[in-house]
Amino acid sequence: MLAASSTYYEHSMSAVSFILRTQRALRVSPGQILLQAHRHHLSIKPSPSRTSATMANIHTPIPNLKLNDGNSIPMLGYGTGTAWYKSGDESKIDQACIDSVKLALKLNYYHQDGAEVYKTETELGTAIKQSGVPREKLFVTTKVITNISDIPSALKASLKKLQLSYVDLYLIHSPFFSESKEEHQQKWRDMESLKAQGLAKSIGVSNYLPEHLEWILESCNTPPAVNQIEFHPYLQRTDLIKYNKSKGIATEAYGPLSPITKGQGGPVDDVLASLAKKYAVNPSEILLRWCIDQDIVPITTSGKEQRLSDYLRAMTFKLTPKEIQMINEEGSKKHFRGFWTHKFADNDRR
Ligand SMILES: NC(=O)c1ccc[n+]([C@@H]2O[C@H](COP(=O)([O-])OP(=O)(O)OC[C@H]3O[C@@H](n4cnc5c(N)ncnc54)[C@H](OP(=O)(O)O)[C@@H]3O)[C@@H](O)[C@H]2O)c1
Repeated sequence: MLAASSTYYEHSMSAVSFILRTQRALRVSPGQILLQAHRHHLSIKPSPSRTSATMANIHTPIPNLKLNDGNSIPMLGYGTGTAWYKSGDESKIDQACIDSVKLALKLNYYHQDGAEVYKTETELGTAIKQSGVPREKLFVTTKVITNISDIPSALKASLKKLQLSYVDLYLIHSPFFSESKEEHQQKWRDMESLKAQGLAKSIGVSNYLPEHLEWILESCNTPPAVNQIEFHPYLQRTDLIKYNKSKGIATEAYGPLSPITKGQGGPVDDVLASLAKKYAVNPSEILLRWCIDQDIVPITTSGKEQRLSDYLRAMTFKLTPKEIQMINEEGSKKHFRGFWTHKFADNDRR
């Protein structure tokens, strides 16, 4: 069974109740609000107006989720793919990417999501080094697919670019490199060996469907800790999520903001707007919280400090089961997939 790490979660939950009380407390004096914060040992500085262009200034920690191998993963990640993906020459350094990762690290986004195929591992490594954040505070993921034929060499090359001696999480980026069960099982043995050597603290997969996971689980010693998939209200993948959970595999969600970005305009708009109003946040924070409240780790990205700062407000409230259900119901009325579309039929919701 997956369980959120109690220390972080409890702290976060006390922050949640504080914020809720603060909202109610808007009818009392600022002094009383500060007193409440002091009593809860919280360092939260609510911005004067949540609709203004001020930074959210949220100091509530990002909670951790406990993985099936005993390690913990921060429940909000910063991605160095999509917007940062380099289609051209990898050796041409993208300074904007370095600056954005540094900004994210400054805002305590210690969970960084990379991949060899993004061609931005050098930028990620440079930003980490320049940020001065101690290694033990970081949670760094990278993924293999381009050099899947030689996984140990691929990780070695990634570590060099990242200027790290290990990654916290190493993922096979997609199952579509082979349709052979034996080959998948062999590749997983390679992954297990890297974990045994301490080069990857946790190992997992991305974009795997239950049939691919079955192949691995049939012969593995260490099950995947994580399956990173596209997940948002317009692609809820109920069976896959249930499957991951039943096997103790944590789910990470990429593209979590799709209903307000690439897949915008649809049935969840109204419920997002009303919940955003209720919790005094943006719809994006409702989408991130919708993942977190289902024990799913959202991976987002942004080049904008305002957005990254605002997203941290997702740590300061909790959706009720009924609100999650409302999003699920409205979301299921539309289907949208933004990634790996060539691998799925238009109406395939798996
Ligand atoms: N394993 C895989 O196959 C896979 C596939 C895809 C992604 N990923 C990982 O997941 C990470 C995040 O994926 P994602 O970028 O799809 O996540 P996302 O959180 O759904 O979207 C983030 C993007 O939306 C933009 N955005 C945010 N609010 C917006 C608004 N109101 N209007 C217009 N644009 C807005 C951001 O741009 P601004 O800079 O303007 O804020 C940013 O580029 C990637 O970087 C990568 O690490 C993995």
